[in-house]
Amino acid sequence: MSVGSLVGHPGPVNGRRARVREEHGMGLKKTPLGTAGEWLWGPDEMRWRRTFSGRPDQTASARDFAAALFAGTACVDVVKFVVSELTANTIRHTRTCQDGGWFGLELVYDDPAYIAVVDNGGGGIPTVKPPVDLMATSGRGLYLVSQLAYRMGIEGSPELGHKVWIEFGLDKPIDDPFGWPASAVS
Ligand SMILES: Nc1ncnc2c1ncn2[C@@H]1O[C@H](COP(=O)(O)OP(=O)(O)OP(=O)(O)O)[C@@H](O)[C@H]1O
Ligand SMILES: [Mg+2]
Repeated sequence: MSVGSLVGHPGPVNGRRARVREEHGMGLKKTPLGTAGEWLWGPDEMRWRRTFSGRPDQTASARDFAAALFAGTACVDVVKFVVSELTANTIRHTRTCQDGGWFGLELVYDDPAYIAVVDNGGGGIPTVKPPVDLMATSGRGLYLVSQLAYRMGIEGSPELGHKVWIEFGLDKPIDDPFGWPASAVS
């Protein structure tokens, strides 16, 4: 997928950025980069990458980090849920939790928004399992994630590690019917 093609995407983000600029009175002191508000809420996508140690407690740190970056958006609960599920999978199903292991989190604040989690491999293959038993208490994480996504992808291998990513609507709350299922792209 080409995240680069999202640069300059028109839509709610620009509206939100304009609102924030106005509310925070940013725009007074001009520099060659523009005002603080123009720089902070500029038209380009905002992207973050961060690594975390492969410890179970780091999934909550990753969730809180992502939630802080998407604070104030309608999709913040989607972000929390997806980051929790994908990072928990790296701890549970891969070498990430072994000595020196780590997972990586990548976030793009744009519309559509984007989350990717990378792991150290060594386990099986991330597999979206459509629910057979609605009462099942495990084996549903990736399926639920897929239901929140415009698009979802699983890349990599057990040897090299996997990246699981999704694109989703910046303005879609978690209880919104999204209208179309994710199409898996490998
Ligand atoms: N990062 C990963 N690397 C390797 N295998 C994975 C990874 N993530 C998931 N899997 C595999 O895909 C299956 C489905 O994952 P899913 O998250 O849907 O269920 P689960 O983790 O088993 O249970 P839960 O409902 O608690 O999330 C897992 O059982 C596991 O075999
Ligand atoms: Mg899981």
